This record gives sequence, C-alpha cells and structure tokens, in this order.
Amino acid sequence: PTLIYTSQAPGPPKTHVVFLKVHKSASSTVMNILFRFGETQNLTFALPVNGASQLGYPRYFLAESVEGFTIGNTSEFNIICHHMRFQQAQVQRVMPSSTFYFSILRNPIHLMESSFTYYKGCSPFSRAQSLEEFLSQPARFYNASAPDSHYAKNLMAFDFGFNHNGNFSAKQVQLMLQYIEEAFDLLLLSEYFDESMVLLKEALCWDLDSVVSFPLNSREGSTRSPLSESTAEKIKSWNRLDWAIYRHFNRTFWQRIDWSMGRERMQQEVRMLQERREQLAKTCLQGEGSVVPRKLRDKSLAPLQYGKATILGYNLKPGLDEVMGRLCRRMVTPELQYSRSLYRTQFPEKAQRIYKPAHPPKLHDGLRGLSTGLLNPGL
Ligand SMILES: *[C@@H]1O[C@H](CO)[C@@H](O)[C@H](O)[C@H]1NC(C)=O
Ligand SMILES: *[C@@H]1O[C@H](CO)[C@@H](O)[C@H](O)[C@H]1NC(C)=O
Ligand SMILES: *[C@@H]1O[C@H](CO)[C@@H](O)[C@H](O)[C@H]1NC(C)=O
Ligand SMILES: *[C@@H]1O[C@H](CO)[C@@H](O)[C@H](O)[C@H]1NC(C)=O
Ligand SMILES: *[C@@H]1O[C@H](CO)[C@@H](O)[C@H](O)[C@H]1NC(C)=O
Repeated sequence: PTLIYTSQAPGPPKTHVVFLKVHKSASSTVMNILFRFGETQNLTFALPVNGASQLGYPRYFLAESVEGFTIGNTSEFNIICHHMRFQQAQVQRVMPSSTFYFSILRNPIHLMESSFTYYKGCSPFSRAQSLEEFLSQPARFYNASAPDSHYAKNLMAFDFGFNHNGNFSAKQVQLMLQYIEEAFDLLLLSEYFDESMVLLKEALCWDLDSVVSFPLNSREGSTRSPLSESTAEKIKSWNRLDWAIYRHFNRTFWQRIDWSMGRERMQQEVRMLQERREQLAKTCLQGEGSVVPRKLRDKSLAPLQYGKATILGYNLKPGLDEVMGRLCRRMVTPELQYSRSLYRTQFPEKAQRIYKPAHPPKLHDGLRGLSTGLLNPGL
C-alpha cells in the first residue's frame, strides 16, 4: 500500500504543537499520532524530566518540568503532549508564540463511567461499590481537599487548570469557556473521533496518513457498564463545570465543520480515513484487532494495566517489510514504551542512567505513583 495520501490542506505542515492530554478521552491515541509525526519528521519533543511519564501532573505545569528546557529559549521544542495541568504562561516559556494549541474532550457521562473503573484505587472511589452508590451520596466518599479528588469531579476542568471544586457563577462559567477558547486553537471530541482527526489534519496541514490510528489504551468491553438516565443526570450536575465545557465545545465543533468544510466534505474525508484505517489494519494486524494482554505475543507491546479495566493491545502480522513494519509497530506501541524510546533518542546518555538494564522499567511503576498522586499514567 502507498504511504502517502494526497488529501492535505494547503500550506506547510505545522510543526509547533501543544496538545493538552485530557484524561480518559481517547488522548492516548492522539498522543500516538503526535509521537509518530514528530518521530518521522525528526521533531523535538518537550519530554518530562528524568524520563517521567507526566509533566508534573497533578501539580500545575512548570517549564522546568521539561527535560532540557533553558530559560529564555522558545525554539528548542516542537511538540508537547504528555499529561499536564495546563498553565498557559508556563507553556509559553517553552513553546514559541506561533504554536498550535489543541485538546480533546469527552462527554462527562462517558468520562466518569470510565474514570470510575480506571481510578477505582483512588481515594474518592475506593470505598464506593458502584458509581451509582458514589453518586447517590457523594459526600460520604468525596473529600474535596484530598490530593486525588479531581479524578472524581470535573476532571477536564482540572486538567485545563481550573478549580474542580469551584462553585462558579454563570458569569464565571462563561469566563472559563472564554479562557479556553482564547488559549486553544481547536477542541476535539472523542465521541466524534474520526471527524476530529479530519479537523486536526486540516488545521495542521498534515496528510491523511499522519492522523490515521488504531484505538490505543482502550478497555475490554466487559468492564463497561450501561448507565441509567438518572445516573447520567447525576453525573451532569456533579460535574457541572465539565458539562458546561463539553456542551459549549460540542457546539463550536459543529460550527467549525460548517464554516470550514461543510458536512458533506467532512463525510467524504471521514470515509477516506476509515478506509485507510481498515487497509492498515489488514496490513499490520494479526487477527481481528485488539486483544487482551495474555494473548499478546510481543510483550514489549503490552500496554500498562491499571485499575479495574483490562487494557487491550495488538499483535503485529509477522513478515512485514521494513517500511511497513516500522509504521505498523509505531501505530501499536503503547504510550509508556513510545515515550521512553523518544526520551532515549533525545537524551541517550541520561536515558542509560535512568533506564538501567539492572532495573528494567516496570510497567506497574505508575501504580505506586498513584498513592502519591504524582505519577499517574492515565490516558
Ligand atoms: C530524519 O532523520 C533521518 C536520519 O538522520 C533522515 O534519514 C531523514 O531523512 C530525516 N527526515 C526528515 C523528514 O527530515
Ligand atoms: C535555543 O535552542 C535552539 C534549538 O535547540 C538552539 O539552536 C539555539 O542555539 C538556542 N538558543 C539559545 C540562546 O540558547
Ligand atoms: C480530607 O483530606 C485532607 C487532605 O488529605 C485531610 O487532611 C482530611 O483529614 C480529610 N478529611 C476527611 C474527613 O477525611
Ligand atoms: C454556590 O453559590 C451560590 C451563589 O452563587 C450559592 O447560593 C450556593 O449555596 C453555593 N453552593 C455551594 C455548595 O456552596
Ligand atoms: C452535540 O452536538 C450534536 C450535534 O449538534 C448533538 O446532536 C448532540 O446532542 C450534542 N451533544 C451534547 C451532549 O450536547
């Protein structure tokens, strides 16, 4: 199969990008897209210091949490995409002013169902038998001052830098939305992932192949639970800020499609993207697609297992040629492994000291971090 599709917005590809990786919103898949683009274009990533998995999260982002950052230089880095709690002034110390800022949001109803399963070990959720029980009496389980409380309330607002416990007036909610709109060039939606990737490719002037992906860090279906109407309503009012964010940017998302390309062309582009994904899946993947960890032949492609969910991975088809083999492998490499490999490329000497062979990186390192709230590897 050919590697390059022609469909691409006019203009040189944008190569300075900030991605705010909001938790539990398909953001690991977007991160893989950025990793691949940056790696093939020889771009430089703003990576967490000492090979960590996040940029100081859940504390506010500081320029100093980027490996190799030098004060006063905003031309060292192209892409920043690890978990951070957004703080624009600090990001601006690292990235040039022409940088493209984007993020991806998820309906809070789906997001909370997912975070309840994933962050079951966190204090707000640990004593609740079910999400329904948690929502029926949040005060019994939820401690607003606990350092990991944001996993259970307004997680998106928190990642964007706002007070997740804030009792905002309508005016303040408007200001929050305005602030996000001014700081970010594009807000995507995980419920409309393919449309989002088309918008992204157009905005960045990247080609179609750059934004084709296989879903990463997704859960096995058996850990998903359907929610009742009344549970959904409780989630909306409990996550009032996130609900306001999602509703607002769901509106602007469709407006943007209407004024930029129209629904018809969007549909055509989505079809092309889906065809290309199917074609790549046939070329790259063994069997029907994602598999549970014990069925992975190559353990180096095993995703981090976390919380109550089973996180799926992929088996590559054997016998791929060099070019396709490299592309396919990149598409299925989980974020921790990919991030480490980029760190090794950019900081070979330091990486040798950090990732000592005597202490092979343990995939459940992240679990230990959770109790301190500092190292959470979430998605
Ligand atoms: C990236 O670097 C490699 C190795 O130096 C080189 O072969 C390749 O052409 C470069 N790619 C781009 C897009 O500059
Ligand atoms: C800033 O970073 C760029 C890219 O690494 C480098 O070429 C340049 O010399 C640096 N400038 C200063 C003032 O350190
Ligand atoms: C809530 O969390 C804070 C900070 O961890 C702690 O000091 C306090 O004792 C907790 N309150 C309750 C009722 O558990
Ligand atoms: C939130 O603020 C409103 C007024 O702006 C007030 O009436 C309400 O009691 C507050 N709620 C909480 C839980 O503090
Ligand atoms: C998002 O927008 C679409 C299209 O206008 C609409 O059908 C859908 O109900 C909206 N979703 C939410 C959660 O508001």
